[in-house]
Parts: sequence; structure tokens; C-alpha cells
Amino acid sequence: MRVELRIRRFDPERDQASHWETYQVEASPMDRVLNLLHAVKEEQDPTLTFRRSCGHGICGSDAMRINGRNRLACKVRVDQLGHRISVEPLLGLPVVKDLVVDMEGFFAAYRSVMPFFVADSPVPVRERLQSPAERARFDDTTKCILCAACTTSCPSFWARRSYVGPAAIVNAHRFIFDSRDEAGPERLQVLADTDGVWRCRTIFNCVDACPRQIQITRAILEVSRAIVEDIA
Ligand code: FES
Repeated sequence: MRVELRIRRFDPERDQASHWETYQVEASPMDRVLNLLHAVKEEQDPTLTFRRSCGHGICGSDAMRINGRNRLACKVRVDQLGHRISVEPLLGLPVVKDLVVDMEGFFAAYRSVMPFFVADSPVPVRERLQSPAERARFDDTTKCILCAACTTSCPSFWARRSYVGPAAIVNAHRFIFDSRDEAGPERLQVLADTDGVWRCRTIFNCVDACPRQIQITRAILEVSRAIVEDIA
């Protein structure tokens, strides 16, 4: 089948503003959008710039806006999209070139919630034990691959770029509800800020965008409840 692929292009050395370019690409229904981008780059325009690595939905590097919704280019198939496909960079982050956005602000928000295990109490003789039920408490939020699809689909983030965003809260949740971790109150303090969880308006765009089907809004509400219970 022939696909009409529209790509929003921007070259900072040449363009004042981004613009659409259209390519005709031969594809099979089972091809991924990433295959189409490679076909354009290899056969039509080698300057086309995009990020990708694993090609299998693991690394999170190829999140982009596909037919108006944030998706991983390596996961979404042509037969799910039809003959006309549009591809744009993620919204709300500065565009570096074509489909590549500057992720520094996104990772700064991620770092602000201390996304790592903290336990300063003496190390037990054996390992720090955790029951299956305690492990299950935060299982969903361990699945995040930091693709930024959730944060950059969030109207609250578009309106206020200093909002830490869903991805940072998901990664805070992963440690706040880990029974072995000891820095929960510090993370809750960060997320009780004006740019923390209260910016969420439960719009659910993040849930729709997440390629790992994480129940993000529920995680945000659980963190909000923990703030009320721990700090109020
Ligand atoms: S290339 Fe790694 S998630 Fe798509």
C-alpha cells in the first residue's frame, strides 16, 4: 500500500519556523511508523532527523505525535492509522531539529523528585525484605520508560511548563510507596509545591498516551492523597 506521510520539519540552520513536508512511501500494513521514517531517511531525504534506539518499545526514545496523539513510532502500525499519516515532534518541549525535542527540562523535573532508592538506616544482616503485597503496591509505576509521551500530552503542562508533569509524579510514586524507601516525605514535599500534583486536572490524556498502560491519573491521585495525609 502507498502511504502519504506528512512530517513536520524544522532545521534551525535554515528555517524560521517549522513546516509540513509530504512523502509518498510504500508500506505494508504491519510496518511501524518508525519503518516509514527510516524509508524516508534512507530513500528520499537523509537529513530527516529523529531519535530511536531499541525499535521495540523499551527505550522510550521515539515518542512523537502521530495523527495527533502521542505514540511510540516503533509500536504503532500502519494498519492502525490508515493511508494518511502525520508525524510531529512532542508538544511543549523545544524542537531541536525535525522530530527531536530537547528533553533537558523533562529530565530536570524527573530528577527533582529523587527518582532513586534512599535508605539510610543500617543495612540488615540479610536483604531489606519486602512482602509480595508491598511490592505490588508500586508495581504499575515501575513500568515507566521515560518516553515523555504522558507529560507532553498534558494540557496542564502545555499551559505551565514548570509543572513537574505526570512522568515525574509516576517515578516519585514508584519510590514513595516502596516500603523499603525512606525519602517519601521529601518527595511529597517537592510534589506539594505549586508546580506539583495540584496542577493535575484529571484530563486523562496521559493515560491515553502511555505506551505501557500505566494508570497515571490513579498514581497522581494516590500521591495527592499521601500529601494530604502526611503534610496537612
Ligand atoms: S525505539 Fe525504543 S521505544 Fe521505540
